[in-house]
Amino acid sequence: MSENWIEVGKLDDIPAQGARIVETKGGNIAVFRTQDDEIFAVLDKCPHKGGPLSQGIVSGKRVACPLHDWKINLDSGEAVAPDEGCAATYPVKMEGDMIMMSLTANEGCPNS
Ligand code: FES
Repeated sequence: MSENWIEVGKLDDIPAQGARIVETKGGNIAVFRTQDDEIFAVLDKCPHKGGPLSQGIVSGKRVACPLHDWKINLDSGEAVAPDEGCAATYPVKMEGDMIMMSLTANEGCPNS
């Protein structure tokens, strides 16, 4: 499958522990920046009831959903136990100082 990379913006366009939303045909994708300047892209839709993960609080490599506080792992999209569910994640890479994201979701998330 072709990978379909798009430009998200520069690292500095996303505040540390914040997110930026990328609108796609498949729905909004939240691109997160962690305290350590790692970048993760996750569907902006909580696996619980669809809350906007981009509005959540990032700590470490997790985001807390703003609606009911489920914690979602940014690298896998999976909810932290005891909650169960998974949001699609997308490959990201840096090209110079530009963040690139693939619109082809990573495999491995059964509910996405
Ligand atoms: S919708 Fe995210 S925790 Fe309920």
